[in-house]
Amino acid sequence: MTMSATSAKSSADLDLWLEQQTHKSLLRFMTCGSVDDGKSTLIGRLLYDCQLILDDQLASLKNESKNRTTGDEGIDFSLLVDGLSAEREQGITIDVAYRFFTTDQRKFIVADTPGHEQYTRNMATGASNSDLAIVLVDARKGLLTQTRRHSFILSLIGVRHVVLVVNKIDLVDYDQAVFEKIESEYREFAARLGFDSLEAIPVSALKGDNIASRSEATPWYEGPQLVPYLEQVEVGVDRSQGQMRFPVQWVNRASLDFRGFSGTVAGGVVRVGDDVLVASSRKPAKISRIVTMDAEHTKAVAGQAVTLVLDREVDISRGDVLSHPGETPEFSNQFQARVVWMQDEPAFAGRSYLLKTGAQMVPATITAIKHKTDVNTLEKHPARRLEANEVGTITIATDKPIAFDAYGTNRQTGGFILIDRISNSTLGAGVIDFGLRRGENITYHNFDVNRKVRAEQKGQEPQIVWFTGLSGSGKSTIANLVEKRLTAEGKHCYILDGDNVRHGLNKDLGFTDSARIENIRRVAEVARLMADAGLIVLVSFISPFRNERRIAREIAGDIKFLEVFVDTSLEVCEARDPKGLYARARKGEIKNFTGLDSPFEAPERADLILHGGEAEPLELADELHDRLFDK
Ligand code: ADX
Repeated sequence: MTMSATSAKSSADLDLWLEQQTHKSLLRFMTCGSVDDGKSTLIGRLLYDCQLILDDQLASLKNESKNRTTGDEGIDFSLLVDGLSAEREQGITIDVAYRFFTTDQRKFIVADTPGHEQYTRNMATGASNSDLAIVLVDARKGLLTQTRRHSFILSLIGVRHVVLVVNKIDLVDYDQAVFEKIESEYREFAARLGFDSLEAIPVSALKGDNIASRSEATPWYEGPQLVPYLEQVEVGVDRSQGQMRFPVQWVNRASLDFRGFSGTVAGGVVRVGDDVLVASSRKPAKISRIVTMDAEHTKAVAGQAVTLVLDREVDISRGDVLSHPGETPEFSNQFQARVVWMQDEPAFAGRSYLLKTGAQMVPATITAIKHKTDVNTLEKHPARRLEANEVGTITIATDKPIAFDAYGTNRQTGGFILIDRISNSTLGAGVIDFGLRRGENITYHNFDVNRKVRAEQKGQEPQIVWFTGLSGSGKSTIANLVEKRLTAEGKHCYILDGDNVRHGLNKDLGFTDSARIENIRRVAEVARLMADAGLIVLVSFISPFRNERRIAREIAGDIKFLEVFVDTSLEVCEARDPKGLYARARKGEIKNFTGLDSPFEAPERADLILHGGEAEPLELADELHDRLFDK
């Protein structure tokens, strides 16, 4: 076997070289394992042995990457890969962390992203679709929980081929027994995950044993070496099989008389003349043209980025999915899924997130956590939350119906990520198992006597005044004073107070994070109904989480919503301790007490801040009153 040296000196040379590569098949793979296991060394070794991308070439790649309109200054390794050139033309960024290398047998793309990011991307964005994974184990340590977790996640996201690389075999004196013990333990575990192929190889990435050629140091090992194995392993994926899916990335209006829909074919084949259906409206159309930057095509297959032109005007927006009639994706606002949680901030039922699948992004709530799976034993356990690195089965409701498939049918339209609504960070990645159709037959009625009529009758503008602050900060005291003054002025008000609502509607809820999330969700809905009835609603709940206060504002919709932060320091609240609760909490008699062992997330942009420790309640109430009727 000879490695192909990529010694191109100019962009023309590079083109020529790329041309030479086109007949080779492409293997996309990823590596799982921590830095300690030698992941970087292994990738470095593969790249080095295959004498890749030389410095001058990197420089030219950098220039090309810069020339693109994405403003992305990173190196786009896809520039080296013919199969991805269509995406490049469309200006769709391929993640820089994909490394490319080649031998005279095959081309390779390895997803080389550190930590959790890797899974996030592979599972959800569809930017990479690894067909094989290298699971790295340190020969001295053997299988770790992390190894099992990674393998479980691989099976979850549909990677069907695994190479167990037992690395640092030199550090255990090339001991056959060590290798065989790790191999047999792993085979036993992996048998339950149902991979299509599994090969175990004893390796020293550092010394190069069994990487490109047979190591003298492991005469007892008769299996394949890593590079030759990767060169010939059959992964048998053909994404042009299966039903056609075209998630619309953007509506392309290149000129006045041109309107097309741009995106990447996410499954099957689309041809000029095909009948298609829009998932959201079920409106039909015919494909009249398939175009890319510089060419017209008669068809496009999965993985190709193209612009489709239809034979008629139909309403399609970003995130819509086109398919063939009779082979449409599911379209629903509820589904069951399995997620891998990736952040320290746990996943809770009842909390609202942003869900991104394909080109669609919608608010979504985890409606239930059904169970979590122990990655060591693969047993299922009941769970109320998912912590970092845990895998759970959940149900999700999206705010509006979306088009999707079961992940087993289509990885792109069946994978998703959940995003934090405030920090925008990725929290979890998931695969859809199936749609649930609950709630489909419920429609919203509009009655003739509406909010406007009721508000006019009361001579006021309904609004929600949302107090947030520690227990004892003065929320209810101020709300009480404001309500008295408003009532004296002939206004119609109602106070929703945490302690009071917890006596009735919310008496089933305690003070865990998930109970508080549900507490706030319910009271936000009640506040909306009351404001809809024409009232000025004063909500006095600790409401310690930013996320839920934001949801409360969203639930209010077009009703005026004023977030009032009663900013009284913990010291002052604790000194006041009107109900003696701080003292009891300090003694350990009350758990999860806000400000002590349960967090209070102060608002970053409250509409009004009242400094509770610094002024008399009456002054603060007046200050608030003045704000209420500001236009
Ligand atoms: S919230 O956090 O879910 O918004 P809520 O306003 O409904 O809290 O209830 C807070 C009230 O419950 C406090 O004013 C206090 O009287 C009482 N309480 C009892 N246990 C706790 C606790 N662990 N943390 C905070 N408040 C508690």
